[in-house]
Amino acid sequence: MDDPKLRKEEFGTQFKWGVSTAAFQIEGAHDADGKGLSVWDVFSAGKKKIKGGHNALTACDFYNTYKKDIGLVRDMNIPNFRFSLSWPRIMPSGKRPGNPAGRDYYNRVIDFLLECGIDPWVTLYHWDLPHALELEGGWTNRDIVFRFSEYAELCAKTYGDRVKNWIVMNEPSVFTGAGYFLGIHAPGKTGLKNYTRAIHNSTMATAAGGRALREHVRDANIGTTFSCTFIEPASDSEKDFNAAKRVDALLNRTFIEPLLGLGYPTADLPILRKLEKYMWHNDAKEMVFDFDFIGIQNYTREIVKSVFYVPYIGAQLVKAEKRNVAITDMKWEVYPEAMYHMLKKYNQYDGIRKIIITENGASFPDSIENGNVNDSKRLEYIQKNLEQLLRAKVEGCKVDGYFVWTLTDNFEWAEGYNQRFGLVHVDFETQKRIIKQSGLWYRDFLK
Ligand code: GCO
Repeated sequence: MDDPKLRKEEFGTQFKWGVSTAAFQIEGAHDADGKGLSVWDVFSAGKKKIKGGHNALTACDFYNTYKKDIGLVRDMNIPNFRFSLSWPRIMPSGKRPGNPAGRDYYNRVIDFLLECGIDPWVTLYHWDLPHALELEGGWTNRDIVFRFSEYAELCAKTYGDRVKNWIVMNEPSVFTGAGYFLGIHAPGKTGLKNYTRAIHNSTMATAAGGRALREHVRDANIGTTFSCTFIEPASDSEKDFNAAKRVDALLNRTFIEPLLGLGYPTADLPILRKLEKYMWHNDAKEMVFDFDFIGIQNYTREIVKSVFYVPYIGAQLVKAEKRNVAITDMKWEVYPEAMYHMLKKYNQYDGIRKIIITENGASFPDSIENGNVNDSKRLEYIQKNLEQLLRAKVEGCKVDGYFVWTLTDNFEWAEGYNQRFGLVHVDFETQKRIIKQSGLWYRDFLK
C-alpha cells in the first residue's frame, strides 16, 4: 500500500526520522554481567501481574543480538535509533560505584550504531528503576532526585563524547500513575500519597537530569518525553467540558508545565495543591529546565465524561470499544487527527523550542503468510499519523522529527508479548525476525 501523497521531501531535509525502543522491553539478560534487579524484574517475576504470566528474562534478547537488530535498522534506511540505558545495568544498586561491564555494554551498542552510520538517541530512564532504590521508597523518596542526577552525570561522562541526542525521562505521567497510584505497573504501589510524591520527585529529577547532561555533554541536544493524549468531552455540556479540562490538565500539562516555568496547573486541577507540601524552598526554580526539544508521544484520543463518584478528578473515560470506532489491539481508538491536535496544542507553548514525535505506532495482531507479514492496519495507522503531522507542520508547527514505536515486537509491560507494535515481527520461540510490510514501506519511504 503506497501512499502517493506522502513523500519524505515534504518534511524537509532537517527532519529526524527514527525508531524507538526501551531497554527492559527488548534486552533480556536480566542478570548478565553484574546487572542489578529492576522494579520490572521483580514485578514481572510474580507471574500474576503480567498478562499470560509473561516475563522479560529474555524478551528480544537484544543484549546479545544487538548487532542483528541494529542491522535491521540500517536495512530499513532508518538514520536515528532511540534506545534506553538500564540504570541497574550501569549502577546495580542505583548508587555509585557503577558496574563497568554494564557501562561497557552500552559502549559497544553506541560504537556499533556509529559504525553503521546511525545516530544514537539515548533515553536515560524508561521505567526500569533499580529495585534497591525502590526498597528505599523509589520515586516516593526525595533522595531519588540526587540519585538520578548522579546516574545522569555518570552516563553523560561515559557516553557524552559520542552521544549528542539525549532524552531524560520517558512518560512520567505513565510510570507515576500506573506504578504509584493504580498499581498496575511496577512497583505496584497505590494511593494518592505515593502518587503525589512520585509526581513531584520525578519532575524535580527530570530538570536535574537535564542539568547534569547540559554540564557534562558538549553540544548536547537534550529533550524529555511525555505521553500526550487528545482529550475531548463526551458532550457539549459544561460538566463534561470541565471534566475533560481536568483530565487534560492531569495527563497533558502536570508534568510538562513545571519544566517550562509555569508551575503545576492547580487552577484547573485543584487536587494538585497537594503537591505544594513537597516543595522545598528552591524547587519552583529547580524544576525549570530549558530543553532543546520536547518529545511528544501520542497514540490516540480519549473521550471524557463527568462523573461525581470518581474521587479527585470527577471524570471517567468513555471506552473506545463502547463507542463503535476503529480500535487497535490495545483497545485504543484509531484517531490520527489526535496527532494534529496535540501538535497544535504544544506548539502554543513559547517555552517549547522544538517538538519531536518520539513515539507513535499501533498494536495489531500479525499473521505470517509465505514468510511475509502484511500488517496493512499498522501501515495505514503510521501513514495517516504522518499525514496529520505534515498538516500541522505545514501550518507552522515546530515539529522536527518522527520516531516509530517500535523496532521489534517486544515486552509490552503488563500486556506481556500479547501486543505487537513492531515494524519487525518476532517469533519469541525462535527469536526469528521478519520485517513487516510497514517496515518495508518505511524503508522505501526513507530511501
Ligand atoms: C509508552 C512506552 C512504551 C510503550 C508504548 C506502547 O509510551 O508507554 O514508552 O514503552 O511500549 O507506548 O504502549
